[in-house]
Formats: sequence, structure tokens, C-alpha cells
Amino acid sequence: MPAIEHPRLLELPERFETDMLVLRVYRAGDGVAFFDAVDEDRQELSQWLGWVDQHKSVEDSEAAVRNNAGKWITRESLILGIFSKDEKTLYGGTGFHGVDWKVPSLEIGWFLRKSARGQGVAAEAVRLCCKLAFEHIGANRVWGTVDVLNDRSWRLFERVGFTREAHLRGDCRDHHGSVRDTFAYSLLAREWPNRV
Ligand SMILES: CC(C)(COP(=O)(O)OP(=O)(O)OC[C@H]1O[C@@H](n2cnc3c(N)ncnc32)[C@H](O)[C@@H]1OP(=O)(O)O)[C@@H](O)C(=O)NCCC(=O)NCCS
Repeated sequence: MPAIEHPRLLELPERFETDMLVLRVYRAGDGVAFFDAVDEDRQELSQWLGWVDQHKSVEDSEAAVRNNAGKWITRESLILGIFSKDEKTLYGGTGFHGVDWKVPSLEIGWFLRKSARGQGVAAEAVRLCCKLAFEHIGANRVWGTVDVLNDRSWRLFERVGFTREAHLRGDCRDHHGSVRDTFAYSLLAREWPNRV
């Protein structure tokens, strides 16, 4: 796959729909649904994510979703909301918060609200993101890192078919200041057999 010189000129789908969910770009007005999802379970989300405390009000969440919508247009990041079929409930979010267009290589991340976990929602949304990466963007690599203690998250990488590339010992500090070990995972274009 070639490098992408002008990512802003890429024509990308902004909405995917399956029997289970809608995955789409955020838009103005999604802040209420986003705040509701975060507010359902701050404790577990905060254990693994550093941004939960930035959502103290609906206005905070509305600003964040609009920020994501803007970065989708400029291609600084490609973050999508995971919604129920009627789009009234935000199940969570996923997408690419880091992009190296020269490779192209995309760093993936995710979260689900508590009531949406344990049903395969994240796995389905992440497969759609990989479809976006490999079939629409022409990426060579999708990758991500995870705290080795976050077993639900690293199992998700493996459920979707990512390969564990490394166990980085004493790699960084977690969101609470403790030094942690990290697993690094990746999925390559040649390993992507139209899984969705
Ligand atoms: C990481 C996270 C998104 C994983 O959510 P999840 O619901 O476990 O992920 P999946 O969508 O892959 O669902 C898998 C679970 O659904 C079950 N399931 C039910 N129906 C299923 C289906 N049709 N397909 C796949 N799995 C299904 C699986 O058995 C599995 O449950 P189990 O782990 O109890 O065996 C979620 O735990 C989370 O938001 N954590 C907090 C935020 C976080 O850690 N983010 C990542 C930081 S690196």
C-alpha cells in the first residue's frame, strides 16, 4: 500500500450499520449520549482511561465530540461513536487516535459503557474499524497497546485477530502513577481477509 500524501482528500465512509449497531462519526448534539455513557461507570473506565475526568458535564462531552468531528475532517484522528440501532444510546467509542499517513499505520483505541459489555459489541465495532483501515484507507498496519492487567481489552485484540508483538516490561506509568507492563498488538493488511 502506498503512502497517503493528502489524507484530507480521502473519501471515507462516515457511517457503518450492522444488525447489532451503528458506527459513525460524531456530530453536534452527541454530547448528551456521550456523557450518559461515561457517567454510567466512571470507576472502571477511569481504571484504564485517562480522559474520564475531562467529562464532568454534558458541555464537556459536547465539546469533546465536536472536537472529534473536527479532527475527522482534518484527518488528525478518525474517532467514531458506537451507537444502538436507533442511535439514541451511545454504547461506546472506537477508532484511530494516532495516524501515520506515510506508512499508513493507524493506532486503535476503544471503550464501552458498562451495560454494552459482554455482548460482542466492541468486537463488531473494531472489525468495522479494521475494514475502514484496510479496505477504505489502504492501511498497512493497525496497532495498539494495552496494560497487561486489562485482560478484557487484550482479549478483544485477540478476538479480532491481532497478533501480540511484544510484552514491554516496566514500559510506562498507568493513569494512577504506577509503573505498568504493556502488551503491543498489530494486524497487517495481508492478514485481513474481509472479516466483516
Ligand atoms: C475493553 C472493552 C471494550 C471490552 O468489552 P467486551 O464487551 O468485553 O468486548 P467484546 O465486544 O469483544 O465482547 C466480548 C464478550 O462478549 C461475549 N459475547 C457475547 N456475544 C458475543 C458475540 N456475538 N460475539 C463476540 N462476543 C460475544 C463474549 O463471550 C465476551 O464475554 P467474556 O469476556 O465474558 O467471555 C470493555 O471492557 C471496556 O470498555 N473496558 C474499559 C475501557 C478500556 O479498558 N479501554 C481500553 C483501554 S486500552
